[in-house]
Amino acid sequence: MPRYIYLNGQYVPPSHASIHPEDRGFLFGDAVYEVIGCIHGHLADETGHLDRLERSLSELHMPMPVERETLRFLMREVLRRNNQKNAAIYIQITRGAAKRDFKFPAPDTPQTLMIIPYDFNFDEQAAVHNGVKIKTTNDIRWKHRDIKTVLLLPQSMAKQNAVDNGADDAWMVDPDGFVTEASASNAFIVKDSKIITRPISHDILRGITRTAIEKLCHESNMALEERKFAPQEAYEADEAFNTSATSLIVPVISIDDHQIGNGKRGKIAKFLYDEYRAYAEGLRGKQVHWEPGL
Ligand code: PDD
Repeated sequence: MPRYIYLNGQYVPPSHASIHPEDRGFLFGDAVYEVIGCIHGHLADETGHLDRLERSLSELHMPMPVERETLRFLMREVLRRNNQKNAAIYIQITRGAAKRDFKFPAPDTPQTLMIIPYDFNFDEQAAVHNGVKIKTTNDIRWKHRDIKTVLLLPQSMAKQNAVDNGADDAWMVDPDGFVTEASASNAFIVKDSKIITRPISHDILRGITRTAIEKLCHESNMALEERKFAPQEAYEADEAFNTSATSLIVPVISIDDHQIGNGKRGKIAKFLYDEYRAYAEGLRGKQVHWEPGL
C-alpha cells in the first residue's frame, strides 16, 4: 500500500482510513471505480477514464462527488505526497453511508470518494513479455457490464478458477458460446493479420486501452474486425492478447491448454504495445475523449 491514500477530504495513511459500516459500496456494491495508469508521471488517457467514470456514475443516477478538475488535482496531490511517478491509481466512488435500505438514500447523502495510488512499475511487467495462460469459464455477470461497478465477484471467481487450473487469467464466455472479455481486460485474437475483438455492447466494458487500440489500428492501416468469436476459433488464432490500463497489451500464449501461435509474444501484440506506450506518454495532458459507443 502507498503511504497515503485520499479518503473523503483527507490524505491519510491506509491504517488510519475508515469507511462507515453502512457504506452502500460495502453493503450493496453500490459504487463505481476507475483505474488509471500513471506512467513516468503521465496519467495515461486520463480524459477517457474520467469520461467513463462520469458515464458509469450517471448510469447509476449518482453525481460526481467533486468537480472533474478537483478530481484531477486530488490524484496528482496524492501521487505527490507519496512521491510516486509510476502508479495504478484506483478511484472508487460510492453512494455513501445510510441505514440499510434497498431504495437509494436521500440525494444529499455524502458520497464516499477514495483514491489509492498503488505503486506500479510499467517498465518491468513480466506478463507483457512472457504472456499469460487463459482458462475459459462461463460469464455469470449482470447485464450492464458497460458500467464499471465494483460488482466484481464473478470476475474474481473466474480468475481464481483460472489460477486453480494452472492458468493466469480467465476469458469469460456468454451463454451462446462467445468470448465476452477477460476478468479485468478486453480480449483480442489475431488471424491472418486481422485483429478481432467483440463489438461494443452492454456485454463488455469498453476499455479505454481498447479505444486507443482502435485508433492505433486505424492510423496504422491494420484491420480491426469487431465481431464475436468462440474459444474454438481462438484456439486456432495466430495470436491473442488482453488490454487494460494496467496490463496494457499482454500476449495470451495458451487458451484452455491450446498453445497460441508459437507460444510466445506475437508480432502484433509487440507492435501494439510499443505503439500504445508511445501514444500514452505522448499524450502529455492532451484531451482524448471516450464515448460509450452504445
Ligand atoms: N479493469 N474489461 C473489464 C471487465 C475490466 O475490468 C477492464 C479494466 C477492462 C479494460 O478497461 P481499460 O482498458 O479501460 O482499463 C475491460 C481494470 C484495470 C481493473 O479492474 O483493475
